[in-house]
Amino acid sequence: MRVFNRKNGNMDNRPIGIFDSGVGGLTVVKQMLRKLPYEEIVYLGDTARVPYGTKSPETIKRFAVENAEFLMRFKVKLIVVACNTASSTSLDILREKFDIPIVGVIKPGAEKAVTVTRNNKIGIIGTHTTVKSRAYEREIKRINKNIKVLSQACPIFVPLVEEGWVNEDVTYDIAKKYLKPLVSKRVDTLVLGCTHYPLLKQVISRVTGKNVKIIDSANSVTEEVYNILMALGGLSEKRKPKHKFFATDAVEHFVRIGEKFLGSKITNAKRVTYV
Ligand code: DGL
Repeated sequence: MRVFNRKNGNMDNRPIGIFDSGVGGLTVVKQMLRKLPYEEIVYLGDTARVPYGTKSPETIKRFAVENAEFLMRFKVKLIVVACNTASSTSLDILREKFDIPIVGVIKPGAEKAVTVTRNNKIGIIGTHTTVKSRAYEREIKRINKNIKVLSQACPIFVPLVEEGWVNEDVTYDIAKKYLKPLVSKRVDTLVLGCTHYPLLKQVISRVTGKNVKIIDSANSVTEEVYNILMALGGLSEKRKPKHKFFATDAVEHFVRIGEKFLGSKITNAKRVTYV
């Protein structure tokens, strides 16, 4: 694994803010902690209002602005919108309102998929709102308009992951139902366009077979954050950053499920009450 190094030059020890509709964005935090170990993270899971994937773009925009306002209290130097649904609907308004870099998960995932596909057929899976927004399709076509994009909403995946049913027979059957149409149209690359889906990678690749490359945008986002901070001279040099975790609903559930996503303990989660 490549760990991004600190470089000599300007440093910025302010934290990076990350938000998601709930626990899913912790898959992004996991990559950030591994690859950018000197960065301090302030994570917010909007567990009181999850899921976003079934809500309208107007509502999600409002939530996204409130979440970013909360993170700004910590003087964050950059915000990662670690939620595909919020990234596909709210980046413009966030960039308008906040004067720091705002990084979404769509563009890095789309760019990666374009470099990986060989037959120019890319599958996208995500929530209803993400698929309906066509945000991935737009990003992919912007890079190469000859690529065929096939999208499929997989709404039942989110509750299955939250229930911890990542390897059950029922999960495999549901994955087959959702993914067969994409497989039969011969996509050779599949973007996991939802924060929860990396936990279903095994089941998904059992259905798609080895020849379909699976893109998990958590990796690509981390790379994008590194590139932006490098360009701005804004990497941190904190030896032992103290990460902070917040949820908008009771933290017990957030911690229990969140630890599965993060792959490590969450010891200091706090509830926030602005919602
Ligand atoms: N975080 C959402 C996403 O990545 C999935 C959960 C939800 O619907 O809020 O699209």
